[in-house]
Order: sequence, then structure tokens, then C-alpha cells
Amino acid sequence: MTSPPIALLAELTHRCPLACPYCSNPLDLLAREAELDTETWARVFREAAAMGVLQLHLSGGEPASRRDLEALVTSAREAGLYVNLITSGIGLTPARLQALADAGLDHVQLSLQGITAEKADRIGGYAGGFARKMTIAAEVTKIGLPLTVNAVMHRHNIDDLEATIAFAANLGARRIEVACVQFYGWALPNRAALLPSRDQVIAAKRIVDAARPAYAHRMAIDFVPPDYYADFPKACMGGWGSTGLNIAPDGKVLPCHAAATIPGLTFDSVQDRPLAEIWQHGTAFTAYRGHGWMQDPCKSCARREIDHGGCRCQAMALAADPRAADPVCRHSPARAMVDRIIAAEATAPAPAFTYRRLAPQA
Ligand code: SF4
Ligand code: FES
Repeated sequence: MTSPPIALLAELTHRCPLACPYCSNPLDLLAREAELDTETWARVFREAAAMGVLQLHLSGGEPASRRDLEALVTSAREAGLYVNLITSGIGLTPARLQALADAGLDHVQLSLQGITAEKADRIGGYAGGFARKMTIAAEVTKIGLPLTVNAVMHRHNIDDLEATIAFAANLGARRIEVACVQFYGWALPNRAALLPSRDQVIAAKRIVDAARPAYAHRMAIDFVPPDYYADFPKACMGGWGSTGLNIAPDGKVLPCHAAATIPGLTFDSVQDRPLAEIWQHGTAFTAYRGHGWMQDPCKSCARREIDHGGCRCQAMALAADPRAADPVCRHSPARAMVDRIIAAEATAPAPAFTYRRLAPQA
């Protein structure tokens, strides 16, 4: 028996007013008609709690695009889950936020695209978004909900990191996640527009190291460095099918947000099969669980217990083989390709963004 997942990320919808060019959603975004209804999500939350899930992350797209968000929070809390809302703030109002708090919402994670309206609205592709976000940030702390600021960093805003940390602290955030952009979903085709330079990354690490003790009394600082510049990969998802799962707006259950980019995997839906059964026995979950799927160099590497071979989706995207070592690894035969990408893209003039948009419906 595999231990139950700790966390469930529920992508309630792919609809979103923003159009961030690094969105982790798939390129083929689902339309509203494909989304699970309120009652099905409520049943899924009960199933998740019954199998041992502790934390629910309500995500999207923009979860506030769902008119039934308050009902979803109520059902998740009734199921006994800790409920975190991951939001851009757009679509929330002070009244709606209060209703969510009354429904039992535990925590808000607010995205921050930049610290000026000009930059934030340009990166998010939504005029006026920054001002509305600031209203919601103030309201979150006024209500007394714990606030985490999620600042995705890339070549256009990483030089503002020091000011971004101060900005988050002034908003009253208890935590900031400084997450350097990872190249999945919409970020992959936008890589040349987003990849920071090595110098920018070195400076960012220094800033985080200095800021952590300086803010220790009021705000925690998490830092996700850009893995293209790392010597070894991250333990993506804490290991495939080991600690968390994602459910797409249409009910398909995925081991990670990019798993659909791996050919040959079949994803069960909560509409057809109990969640616990999908977690234990679904072929997408068993495909890369544990270490039996590994080939060298991972198979005989001492670090396999630490990083589990890195990211299967990155191995697919860069080495065209989901069983390969994550190509950012120094032991990977494909590492030279990552170095070539850095050399070609990180300091070249940035191309224009391809904004994330739902394809027009036929
Ligand atoms: Fe991790 Fe595989 Fe690289 Fe070893 S060879 S460090 S297990 S990715
Ligand atoms: Fe899929 Fe890393 S994003 S395994």
C-alpha cells in the first residue's frame, strides 16, 4: 500500500482574467463546459479526506472565476480539509472574501506579478489587475486570514527581488514564496522571454540569504531557484505519486500539473473511479512511482533517494524520454543541451510574450 497523499491541488477551472506567460496550465486549456460541478467536487473532497489528504489547494486558472467557490470551500471544510486559496485576487471582492472566510477558508496565497502597476499588468496581461490585487491583499490581512505572497521571478522582475520582499512584508504577508519560473506549460514556449541570466540568479540568491534573517521576526521567505542553473534536479512532487496529486477542471487525476505532456499515460477521472483507487492503482500513478522505472545514471546513483531522478516532465520535454535523468542533472547526458539553452537564451534580447489564453471556441 502506498501512503496517502498529503496534499490535493484542485484546478477548479482554467478560466482566468490574467494571461501570465509562465502559467503552469496546459496549452490546451479547458472551457467552462468541461468543468466538474459543485456536487462532484464536494464528493471528491470527501473522498480525499477519507483517504488521508490533509491540505486542499484551490487553484486554477483563477478559482474565483467559479461562482460556487464559497460552496466549494464550505464542503471542503466540512470534509475536514485545510483549505488554501491560490488566487490572483481578480474576481474577489471584500464581501466575497468575507464570505469565504465565513465558509472556513484557512489561508490565501496571492500571486504578485510585479511591484508596480505598469510592470505587474504588463506581465499578467491584464490592465488594472494590480490595483484590484492590492485591494484584496489589504482585505485579506484586515479579515485576519494568513497571507502568502507568491512571486514568480524571471528575467523581467528578478532584479526587483529585494523590493519585492519588502513589498510583501508591507502587505502583511507571513510568507513569501520567491519561485523562479519553471519551464512547464506556457512557460516552456516563453522560455527565451523569461529565462534569467546566471548573474541575475547569483544576485537573487545573495538577496534571499540576506533577507531571511532580516525578516525572520515577521515573514518567512521560501526560495525556489531556477533549476536550469542547478547542479542537481529538484525532487519534483517529492517523488512521483508519493505526496501529492492534481485534479484537472474536468476531473482527470494527474500525478503533477504537467503529466499530460508525457505520451502514453492514461489519466483516470474522478467521474469514473474512486480517488483512492486512482491513487493506489491508476496506471499514470504507478508508471514512475518508486525507483523501478529508472535507468542509468539514476538507477545506480546515490542521490536517487534524494531527488528521485528529478522531474519526469522535464526529462520528456528536454530529452524526449520520461525515464531519463532530469536533464538539469550534472550526470545527465543531456545536461549539455541545458547549457546550450542558457547560452543561447539567457542574455539574448527577450522576445515578446506569448500570453496564456483560452483558444477561441469554434
Ligand atoms: Fe538525481 Fe538521477 Fe542525477 Fe542521480 S543521476 S542526481 S538520481 S537525476
Ligand atoms: Fe511532472 Fe515534474 S512536473 S514530474
